Amino acid sequence: MFQNTPVSFSGVQPSGNLTIGNYLGAIKNFASFSEQYKCFYCVVDEHAITVRQVPADLRRRTYETLALYMACGLDPEKNTLYVQSHVKEHAELAWLLNCFTGFGELSRMTQFKDKSQKHADNINAGLFTYPVLMAADILLYQTDVVPVGIDQKQHVELCRDIANRFNAIYPDTFTIPEPIMAKSGAKIMSLADPTKKMSKSDENTNAVVYILDDRDTIIRKFKRAVTDSDTCIRYAEGKDGINNLMTIYSVFTGKTIEDIEREFEGRGYGDFKMAVGEVCADALAPVQEKFKCFMSDKAQLEAQMKKGAEEAAYVARRTLSKVQKKLGFVQIR
Ligand code: TYM
Repeated sequence: MFQNTPVSFSGVQPSGNLTIGNYLGAIKNFASFSEQYKCFYCVVDEHAITVRQVPADLRRRTYETLALYMACGLDPEKNTLYVQSHVKEHAELAWLLNCFTGFGELSRMTQFKDKSQKHADNINAGLFTYPVLMAADILLYQTDVVPVGIDQKQHVELCRDIANRFNAIYPDTFTIPEPIMAKSGAKIMSLADPTKKMSKSDENTNAVVYILDDRDTIIRKFKRAVTDSDTCIRYAEGKDGINNLMTIYSVFTGKTIEDIEREFEGRGYGDFKMAVGEVCADALAPVQEKFKCFMSDKAQLEAQMKKGAEEAAYVARRTLSKVQKKLGFVQIR
């Protein structure tokens, strides 16, 4: 579709304050695709309402997520940055793909099982068909690669299955996308329970470092991070807390695990936790600075949203119309 330029697509839900998991596992990596790919990065507000949201919070976080994309280095001249609900083709293609997705397939999604346990009072159909909307997001842009954290791999695999099934009936409709995960940082764990993923919806705010936390808060949270009764800084089975901190330190500094083991040889957990907090705060400071600046000009953010939505809709319309024709829908102009 873009004269042989491959396409990268990904999305982030404005459903909570974004964490260093979102940053290291996803957003930080998005920019690296800008030179060789046509990039679409979406704020997926329609996904966010599968769980109840306070409207004013959802609205504010939608602006914030777009501002964070830019603060993390996504240049809107090189990347199409937009909001999902501004491009109606997402919801429309999702309906069509629903008719090519099995109930059994959706029942096997681990995130559905987790979320329906967590929100037992609101297991709505949207929570169940969430991965179909995600498949629509990806397939609308004839996407080649989808940079995500490990928790989204299963959803991208389902998207591939749906696309292959559709193509088998209606050949040459969709590009089959590939999930791309960072070698390190694709699953950042909670600081309070390092066997669990760090999540923006965690009620324990000490378990989570937010991208917008101030320096003192970041350092305090790392100081309190749960580790083990060993004293030695090395990466090993059963040392989930230390392994997580070493991963975070490694991704922020670019140092290997061996480098880190050497650097902290003979030093205690306290020193190491302090160092992790400092590198994290140092790395986030410029992002926070830029974020403030982007957030201070709402009109400019809205202009960006509009431009992104127009660019995205142009491509989305073409794919949707192709799908409708293949299905036998009557086209009128
Ligand atoms: P969301 O909003 O939960 O997370 C956004 C991105 O951050 C990654 N991530 C993590 N990576 C490493 N460690 C963690 N602890 C961590 N927590 C989150 C996620 O894997 C994701 O890449 N369904 C998606 C949003 C979405 C989407 C899409 C993604 C909607 N449509 C199409 C890709 C393509 C979600 O809920 O992400």
